[in-house]
Amino acid sequence: MTKSRLFCLVVVLGSVFMILFIIVYWDNVGTANFNLHTSFSKSLSPHSGGEQTTTSPTIENDHASDIDRFLDSFLNFATTNNELQSTKPVKEPIKGPNSLEENVRGYDWSSKTKLEEGALDQELIQQGRKLTLQRFCENSSFDYPTKNRAFDDIPNKELDHLIVDDRHGVIYCYVPKVACTNWKRVMIVLSESLLDKKGVPYQDPLLIPREDVHNSSSHLTFNKFWRRYGKFSRHMMKIKLKKYTKFIFVRDPFVRLISAFRSKFELENEDFYRSFAIPILTRFSNRTNVPTSAGKAFSLGTKPSFSQFIQYLLDARTEEQQPFNEHWRQIYRLCHPCQIDYDFIGKLETLDEDAPQLLRQLNMDSLFQFPPSYRNRTASSWEDDWFSKIPLEWRQKLYKLYEPDFVLFGYPKPENLLHV
Ligand SMILES: *[C@@H]1O[C@H](CO)[C@@H](O)[C@H](O)[C@H]1NC(C)=O
Ligand SMILES: *[C@@H]1O[C@H](CO)[C@@H](O)[C@H](O)[C@H]1NC(C)=O
Ligand SMILES: *[C@@H]1O[C@H](CO)[C@@H](O)[C@H](O)[C@H]1NC(C)=O
Ligand SMILES: *[C@@H]1O[C@H](CO)[C@@H](O)[C@H](O)[C@H]1NC(C)=O
Repeated sequence: MTKSRLFCLVVVLGSVFMILFIIVYWDNVGTANFNLHTSFSKSLSPHSGGEQTTTSPTIENDHASDIDRFLDSFLNFATTNNELQSTKPVKEPIKGPNSLEENVRGYDWSSKTKLEEGALDQELIQQGRKLTLQRFCENSSFDYPTKNRAFDDIPNKELDHLIVDDRHGVIYCYVPKVACTNWKRVMIVLSESLLDKKGVPYQDPLLIPREDVHNSSSHLTFNKFWRRYGKFSRHMMKIKLKKYTKFIFVRDPFVRLISAFRSKFELENEDFYRSFAIPILTRFSNRTNVPTSAGKAFSLGTKPSFSQFIQYLLDARTEEQQPFNEHWRQIYRLCHPCQIDYDFIGKLETLDEDAPQLLRQLNMDSLFQFPPSYRNRTASSWEDDWFSKIPLEWRQKLYKLYEPDFVLFGYPKPENLLHV
């Protein structure tokens, strides 16, 4: 064997070894410790260390320096722009990775301020929500389709609601009709994924045009990973799911349906009229000629009723033709709560407390305020009224359809709607 052949052989073997090493390393990071809903004592902020730093110090450090860079730039920005600057006094960020544990173990916090007590209550609320979710994910008597599917078996297209911000290590699963426009705005600003007309990343969430907020090309979502990472995309997802702070906002499922109906069928919306109102009217109203455009239908006062909408949801043909539209698709199908270990579960019903708490948890509360909502929000108290005209049997079937969302997120069964 000549010297050059030997050299080639060494190079080839070396490369093979490196590739194997990388694959094994990724496997370790990706699957070891990737326990679903088992580690609830871990620190609230994944950036603050704990067991997570031990697996991959390099990634953690890169990540930390990313955060530092962001915070620096944000601080610089905040001092030059009064609009974004919080008017509230700057609060103490939640201290250290162990503060929660200390509190739970009876740490004396009597000397703390009202504000800190509020933060503690919020942490306990989060613990409660996560425990409820964990309990039902583990409870084998409680079942629903896809519940026991592994993360690897979730098709890519069902991961299209998970928005990733690599700059701060945040993942948000958006649920339409649950303040998602504003959280998407926040994600765009954090990840600098969209440039304004001057070519500068948007820094004020409220300046982002609504159509851009909902344009999927403004966001990096899990279903796009294959383009970037090829066959390593699942590994990358798992690494990010393990390292990043994952949050979700949920809402009472029946109230969410009312809200979806109001915004997509009571307001003139050409796309929703063509895709959904026409099939609903054709199937469930006795009209022989259904108007072909929203404009015509609205001038004639022809709209699907809430009851026809419910009929459409219960009709087996609907799901056979295509999966539920995201505005009424169940949260468990959008966000896979038994496969993804969410660090923060917010509720629309307590948005005013949960949004600041999440920003505190992300250490962004002094830099950033959640945009206020000006929309005419559907109130939970309207539920009885809206469902009073829906036959009891339909209400019971509808509950079954949305039961996992009620149970997993701790919404009480609406008994008064389910009995005579
Ligand atoms: C498990 O789920 C079943 C069915 O929903 C319920 O009756 C039971 O109380 C649950 N068990 C626990 C421990 O939560
Ligand atoms: C979404 O954004 C992309 C890139 O900016 C643009 O090409 C596309 O037309 C937009 N889509 C819609 C529906 O506005
Ligand atoms: C449609 O017609 C059938 C029979 O003609 C009737 O029973 C039903 O109540 C009608 N539905 C509506 C929504 O008018
Ligand atoms: C809010 O919605 C309700 C019911 O859809 C409607 O009656 C009311 O006029 C709306 N209010 C505003 C300010 O748009």
